[in-house]
Amino acid sequence: MFIKERLFTPGPVPLPPQVIKALGQQIIHHRTPEFTEIFLNTRKNFQKLLKTDRDVLIFASSGSGAMEASVLNFFKKGDMVLIINAGKFGQRWKELASTFELKIVDYEITWGKTYDKDRIIEIIGEFPNLKGIFVQHSETSTTTLHDIKFLAEVKNKLDDCILVVDGITSVGVYEVYPDELGIDVLVTGSQKALMLPPGLSILYYSSKAEERLSSSNIPKYYFDVKKEAKKQINGQTAFTPAINLILGLNESLKLILEEGVPKLAERHRILAEMTREAVKEIGLKLLSKSPANSATGVLTPEGLNADDLRKELLKLGFRVAGGQDHLKGKIIRIAHMGYFDFMDVIQVISALEIALYRMGYNVEIGKGVKKAQEILIEKIKTD
Ligand SMILES: Cc1ncc(COP(=O)(O)O)c(C=O)c1O
Repeated sequence: MFIKERLFTPGPVPLPPQVIKALGQQIIHHRTPEFTEIFLNTRKNFQKLLKTDRDVLIFASSGSGAMEASVLNFFKKGDMVLIINAGKFGQRWKELASTFELKIVDYEITWGKTYDKDRIIEIIGEFPNLKGIFVQHSETSTTTLHDIKFLAEVKNKLDDCILVVDGITSVGVYEVYPDELGIDVLVTGSQKALMLPPGLSILYYSSKAEERLSSSNIPKYYFDVKKEAKKQINGQTAFTPAINLILGLNESLKLILEEGVPKLAERHRILAEMTREAVKEIGLKLLSKSPANSATGVLTPEGLNADDLRKELLKLGFRVAGGQDHLKGKIIRIAHMGYFDFMDVIQVISALEIALYRMGYNVEIGKGVKKAQEILIEKIKTD
């Protein structure tokens, strides 16, 4: 059968043609006024995306680089920090914090669930000297959303605590405005809702976080925020930048700002709702009790290995992700962040029904698709 491969993985995601064109240009040199102008414009547009006047730094690294920079630059060895550890990327915060010798309060949460507010209040009562709270806004491994506002209120009750948010699969999906939300450090990466290949990480820091830059005593070289900020404010970088990725980011930010962040967030809300409701209509269960709008984690029924289902979907041209660690073989993850429209969801749901049917699962063909279509029609009526 002739097939076209379509990416429905939660990173990397498909690229818009305008971005592909920008990426494919002949390279320009970075120590030139031409690059400086583009870089300053890109940084300004990133500030618009986050609705902030605060500095936004762009590193040549995957998202984990900016996560590492958050630990290196805003903490001292021995600082006590709370990790909201609810999945693969919560674990990454823990590993980073322990690598750089912070003291950890590890709030481990069953994968697929979010934190309990009462438990957080108990923890801050027990550890009033917390210097930081680390969380994922959207935990991609479990497709779970964690509420940020509550954590910001909590950290404000403490003497000297900052909130560090991994927004790698939430920036470009939700309205993530760190000044308004009370986020002190926010990181994101290029290969998700920013609609770019991997290779850029972005870091925002509040004035409260900035005050910590001089007292941080963790050794650092590449991810040195002070050194990098001095350069980037003037449209340059401390090291060779990922030039073409920045040209691509300049383009993808134009697309994002043209759509407008509130509309973009609404599109993602509907994409997620269509996916979730259709999956439930097919008779499958969602993994997450607090599902995020970036991707949907779907539990496969007893006796149906999720990785076999992924192979069947791939035969139809649909590449979805599987589960990580103990969820391997138990879930599939369908992405709908970035360059996705409503008909993409209808296609992937249709493929899911066919794949399940071919695997002998008792599925009523068209039931999930119909549900997604109904939600879409309601949306079109209100446009
Ligand atoms: C929420 C979250 N945090 C961190 C990461 C790690 O980012 P990277 O693989 O770009 O280093 C990912 C990647 O999937 C992610 O989804």
